[in-house]
Amino acid sequence: MVKDKVVVVTGAGGGIGRDFALAFAEHGARVVVNDLGTSVAGEGASAGPAQKVADEIKAMGGEAVACADSVADWDAANRIVKTAIDAFGRIDVVVNNAGILRDRFFFNLSVEDWRTVIDVHLNGSFYVSRAAAPYFKSQGSGSYVHMTSTSGLIGNLGQANYSAAKLGIVGLSKSIALDMARYGVRSNCIAPFAWSRMIGSIPTETPEQKARVEKMKVMQTAKIAPLAVFLAGDAAAGVSGQIFAVRANELFLMSQSRPLRSVHRAGGWTPQSIAEHGMPALKAAFFPLDRTQDVFTWDPL
Ligand code: NAI
Repeated sequence: MVKDKVVVVTGAGGGIGRDFALAFAEHGARVVVNDLGTSVAGEGASAGPAQKVADEIKAMGGEAVACADSVADWDAANRIVKTAIDAFGRIDVVVNNAGILRDRFFFNLSVEDWRTVIDVHLNGSFYVSRAAAPYFKSQGSGSYVHMTSTSGLIGNLGQANYSAAKLGIVGLSKSIALDMARYGVRSNCIAPFAWSRMIGSIPTETPEQKARVEKMKVMQTAKIAPLAVFLAGDAAAGVSGQIFAVRANELFLMSQSRPLRSVHRAGGWTPQSIAEHGMPALKAAFFPLDRTQDVFTWDPL
């Protein structure tokens, strides 16, 4: 499916991204292993993690090159794409996976924590995608795979910055799919559920918390990779503008926003008539203030 394709995986020094890089290499792709080598909060940098994964791929007979640039900067994002061109002469796939967390309740969220998370996830996904776009356009092919999250798609506490960025990525992906369809380019999102360092900081003090965390460990990071490899490859022709979720052995197609219910009043609405007629009619279709666990109520399979 992806044999000889050139794939850039961002944030591939650990977690889900590392498994993406290994899986692409196993399927015969040539891989740019990009990772800033930073903490979950995005502090510090090291070229070590990207190099280690590139070395692992080479040790198993695959082709890989490491790149420690940050996705959160336009010039650096261009260098990530150029690494693929310099090393392998082309680029076929971009997997926007790099990510950080700075969780705070909204009323405590600083401007810096807002900007930093938006910069890595939303701006970073734009920068790397945009840097690859001229190559995809001129060769008439290409595939983007972006990591979103049910924190944005459904909701979560204390993640206003992250949720906004992840839902922004959904809009970015759909727009790329629309704008680049005429050039044979596809763009899709995956909302992963996986036991990585990112969710490994959940407290395990009570027996209930311990039991919950044990169940989460079955959501292995490697379980996300088969869908990413499929979406990147030619067998996914016709699959574009979609949002998928993966949780251990379950695959989901997620919904996209459409009108649910409408009310009409000849002559138009007043605030009063909205209160008395419009809102009671629409209320039956309201969404509750759900978080991910209120929707995914069963244990991972
Ligand atoms: P992780 O923390 O293990 O991996 C993220 C990687 O991104 C790290 O190696 C980090 O060094 C790298 N990174 C951070 N900032 C970077 C930058 N500016 N430039 C280049 N690399 C950078 O986390 P995990 O869980 O593997 O997450 C991967 C993606 O999946 C993220 O986009 C995350 O938001 C998303 N995701 C993960 C979920 C999960 O259950 N683990 C749930 C929903 C979404």
